[in-house]
Amino acid sequence: MNQPDAIVIDPMVGDLAGETARLVAADAIATIELLGVQVKTVTAQATARKLLTDTRLVKDINHWGQYTSGAVTRDWPLIPMIDPGRSLFTVDGAEHRRLRAKIAQAITPRRLEALRPVIERLTGELLDDLGEAGAGGEVVDLKTLFAGPLPMGVVCQLMGVPESEIPRQLKLWKAFFSLLTPQEERIAVIAELDSIFTDLVREKTAHPADDLTTGLILADDGGEPLTEEEVVGNLKSMIAAGHETTIGLILCAVRGLLTHPDQLALVLDGKVSWEAVIEEALRWDPPVTHLLMRFATEDIEVDGFTIAEGEGVVISYRAIGRDREAHGADPDSFDVTRKAPARHITFGHGPHICPGAALSRLEAATALPALFARFPRMKLGVAAEEIGNLPVMTQNELAAFPVVLNG
Ligand code: HEM
Repeated sequence: MNQPDAIVIDPMVGDLAGETARLVAADAIATIELLGVQVKTVTAQATARKLLTDTRLVKDINHWGQYTSGAVTRDWPLIPMIDPGRSLFTVDGAEHRRLRAKIAQAITPRRLEALRPVIERLTGELLDDLGEAGAGGEVVDLKTLFAGPLPMGVVCQLMGVPESEIPRQLKLWKAFFSLLTPQEERIAVIAELDSIFTDLVREKTAHPADDLTTGLILADDGGEPLTEEEVVGNLKSMIAAGHETTIGLILCAVRGLLTHPDQLALVLDGKVSWEAVIEEALRWDPPVTHLLMRFATEDIEVDGFTIAEGEGVVISYRAIGRDREAHGADPDSFDVTRKAPARHITFGHGPHICPGAALSRLEAATALPALFARFPRMKLGVAAEEIGNLPVMTQNELAAFPVVLNG
């Protein structure tokens, strides 16, 4: 049922700070409007923790009353984000455990260690290119030249997607997530991604290699092997979830430090760890703004609120990072010296908790010190308020990140 006090989420992401403040001020479970459709959202960390482990809340879109009644159709632009095809992202219970086990088991500490030199090499190469582009003191875009290609390069390496594919993948996923992409074009983009990944899975089936896609194809834990469609779905989920989020983490950590030079000085003097910077950036300026979506299979009573059977539920991770109950009196300040380090749930909680958390932390912990060691006098190339977001409702996707390297 429509409620007049729904907080309308701006598809153009024109005022993320104002919108986050409205969500934080709202109830722990509030009503939001996403492109004309009203759903519930969770804004409090303690409530989110309960719901993220509640088996009555599921990812299968066929439990969404507004979808099964036809009120929301496949033309609604956010459908591809909720229902991107069968993968660990869209199933629950035993099916989810089966799809997820192969990925969770495959991202082993050994595989992460094997990626460390790749991350270091890519970081070094990208810093060389960045330094060349900005050598004359001109403003350069840290997103295009550094933070963008690094996570895509790493997740492609992890999955066994060739490096030559990186520019096309960045272009296709940008179109996939942008709300400015016409629906027919988004459908064509999805078809192109499916075709690229299906070809890749067939090639890996014929020629197994030492990568996670091969791992998914060959995984034998005594249960049913994954079907081709399931391997493609999981591969797509990993690439989609594994690049833009980490780009956001790197850029938002840089933004936090460049807008708080006193804190940057503490970090560069070794008085505060890079780990503290990364955890505070994850809480304060997180890569995932709103996670779409879960559905109630029956009425759920939680913390004095009712989610009715069939209702859609978003997890507003950005608002949760600013929850006063969870993060103390001044959650809106970026403070890498917090006495109690950020106990955020930016990587989720419960069975769907991010399987890539350790990898993205490793990437940020490699990229950030290397960037500031090479360019310790780096400054923003525009006023901080001028760094805007792309029209992506779900993620904190910055349009560009202009800097001057030797400011
Ligand atoms: C799931 C955040 C990096 C792969 C999630 C979820 C969150 C999240 C919040 C849980 C969604 C839910 O509520 O259901 C992040 C953040 C990242 C990051 C903030 C970086 C800073 C990565 C990376 C990868 C990855 C690097 C892959 C290499 C996935 C996958 C899922 C997921 C496959 C779905 C898991 C499932 O549904 O069982 N991520 N993620 N993520 N993430 Fe990440």
